[in-house]
Amino acid sequence: MNYPFWDVPLIGSGWVIGTIAIFHVVISHFAIGGGFYLPIAERKALAEGRADWMEILRNHSRFFLILTGVFGAVSGVGIWFSIGLAHPEATSTLIHNFVFAWAIEWVFFVVELTAAAVYYYTWGKLDSRTHLKVGWVYALSSWMSLVIINGILTFMLTPGERWLSVAGSGNEASAFWSAFFNPTYWPSLFLRTLVMISLAGIFALFTAAAIDGYERPQLKTEIVRWSSRWLVPSFVLMPFFFAWYLFSVPESQRQLLQLGISTIGQGTFTQVTRAALVSVMTSATIVAIVYFVAYKQARSFSRGWAWTILLLAVAATAATEQAREMLRKPYVIGNHMYSNGIRTSEVASFNEAGYLTNSIWLREDERRSLQDGGSRLAAGELIFRGQCASCHTRDGYRSMRRLLQGRNRQAIENLLGVLHRSEANSTYRFMPPLVGSKQEIEALADYLENMVTEPVRTAGL
Ligand code: HEC
Repeated sequence: MNYPFWDVPLIGSGWVIGTIAIFHVVISHFAIGGGFYLPIAERKALAEGRADWMEILRNHSRFFLILTGVFGAVSGVGIWFSIGLAHPEATSTLIHNFVFAWAIEWVFFVVELTAAAVYYYTWGKLDSRTHLKVGWVYALSSWMSLVIINGILTFMLTPGERWLSVAGSGNEASAFWSAFFNPTYWPSLFLRTLVMISLAGIFALFTAAAIDGYERPQLKTEIVRWSSRWLVPSFVLMPFFFAWYLFSVPESQRQLLQLGISTIGQGTFTQVTRAALVSVMTSATIVAIVYFVAYKQARSFSRGWAWTILLLAVAATAATEQAREMLRKPYVIGNHMYSNGIRTSEVASFNEAGYLTNSIWLREDERRSLQDGGSRLAAGELIFRGQCASCHTRDGYRSMRRLLQGRNRQAIENLLGVLHRSEANSTYRFMPPLVGSKQEIEALADYLENMVTEPVRTAGL
């Protein structure tokens, strides 16, 4: 808990991660799907002796190399940057548990980037069979990087019973494989594979849209139609894999969701359903546009429509990621660590010994003031940052000031009391229990009361 706190005003650190992640998810899935698209299309063009296809594919591979090599790699680093700052404790847990998985991931990553560059720069220079092989090296190594990272991503939602039973014992390595192939590993791998196949088609439509439909009507029609077909697997299989995925989330976590449904009509439930609904609706719209506009009128398919489809795909991705995030609350690592970095196993000791006892961020005079009943605002603010601000901002996203509006001192204390006992209380299951000594909880109440009564500072006044 002695990591510094990263305060992002208004949007909160969660949205910094979210924004980078949505961008990265779209690009990185395309980086894999497109990696299959290229050699499969090249093989077809070679078999049919189509020089015009080869020319389009070569253009596409340049677009592909720049987009994935530059933006994919940079946004991947951006994820490290933001999760390291926003969730240092959880990032540390991931690094410690998966150090070898990450090492393997980077090996595939280096192979992948090298192969992508070799593939693009050797068009027409290597004999066609060797060139095609380079394409396959790219496709398989990039898919292998998904195989690895998927284990770590799904671990965060469902670490699995075996790992949880050894977590914190120093013996976590004994449960490496069960943590890696955790309960949501397989459905998630299939889902992501479907997404990447669709994105391969969606991005290929970009390149296809640029072909002049008047000069080369046949070529354009063929490529637009062939690319559109890449969306069919998702359309057919997605609902089944999605159901499998939900089914693999342990009962206890789904129950958490259901408790949310029955207790707060405004909170968890509507956010998850809203996100899921947006995801389904945007996906359906994509399918409709691809069929009626791209497939049916391939010759006149334009860049504008390609952009429309891509933006809808980004919206679908954003909604799905948000639903997954809500499903994981209040944890950052399921049943092990809360979003604010507190481990489930630490709750009792924090309640007994105090949350700030070993904090290095409290000055000596502030610490004394907390003990003697003087001003406790500094301590209260530290507790707010440490325990609430990973999900709430003061004035922006999920604003604490707004959520507390109209509550007086007594009401705030009651709320904190409920949060403090929340292990036994189901009302706020999407929030972690509030931990700390009696004095510390009073200090937080002071700070929150002060926040609500303090006049809102308006620009210019
Ligand atoms: C894991 C994320 C998370 C953490 C950490 C968290 N909350 Fe929340 N909180 C939520 C969510 C989600 C909601 C529902 C938001 C909404 O309805 O807009 C919520 C709602 C609230 C509300 C409104 C509840 C109501 O009855 O209307 C209050 C007050 C609140 N939180 C206070 C706190 C305090 C104080 C802390 C720190 C001790 C805290 N929260 C920590 C996620 C969190």
